[in-house]
Amino acid sequence: MERRNFLQLSATSAMAIAVAPSLIPQKLYAEDGSLFQTFEKVQLKDAEGNALKSKALVKEENYVFMYPHAATPAIMVDLLTPAGKDIKLKSEDGVEYIYKGGTGSEGTIVAFSAICAHQLTHPQKAMTMFQYVPTTGKTLAYDKAGVFVCSSHLAAYDANQGGKVLGGPANQGLASIILEIDADDNIWAVAVLGPNKFQEFFDAFKQELKAVHGRRGAKKLVKEEVKVEKLKNFTAEMIQA
Ligand code: FES
Repeated sequence: MERRNFLQLSATSAMAIAVAPSLIPQKLYAEDGSLFQTFEKVQLKDAEGNALKSKALVKEENYVFMYPHAATPAIMVDLLTPAGKDIKLKSEDGVEYIYKGGTGSEGTIVAFSAICAHQLTHPQKAMTMFQYVPTTGKTLAYDKAGVFVCSSHLAAYDANQGGKVLGGPANQGLASIILEIDADDNIWAVAVLGPNKFQEFFDAFKQELKAVHGRRGAKKLVKEEVKVEKLKNFTAEMIQA
């Protein structure tokens, strides 16, 4: 693992541009609105560039895509059971927000920003230590699987309860990526709910991101469409504790 993953990082808040009001259910906002941000409405496409359909998702598979920025990874999972609704969550600085639930015909499809709230471990091409561990798996991070796990220091996050912390060193849950599914079963990412780590991520990995995305490319907002890959195809090595 890169040493940078262990750095202590100062808390900063991300800036965002609200451009695409959407069909978001009510009550997502924190009291001051700061923990909910709409972004460009972006269609999820498969590796061949075709529209990804919700019914084509493999249950409990990790699907990775970049959202809302060109370099900020998110993971989508179609869970075995519907995600909980109206989950009250709190950021590390005490701001409350409400997770409304999963999407899809049965409310089983969820997506979260795949940047660990502890020290920013995230899926990388060379290696991935952050992932959803299916219910058939095992993890040292929590007493049962079916959770998101960061294997850097064993943070566990509840995939069914809005990404809240179940165990380990993280002080707050994962930011949720709000998805919509249209009448043709297409999947769209439209917003981010909860305390995100985007700015800290950009600060911590500045040089690496610059090398891959150019001077300002990493922060560019994704527009119109984004490629979705199975995490096991995106990364060379999946490491899970
Ligand atoms: S970076 Fe420490 S648990 Fe994820």
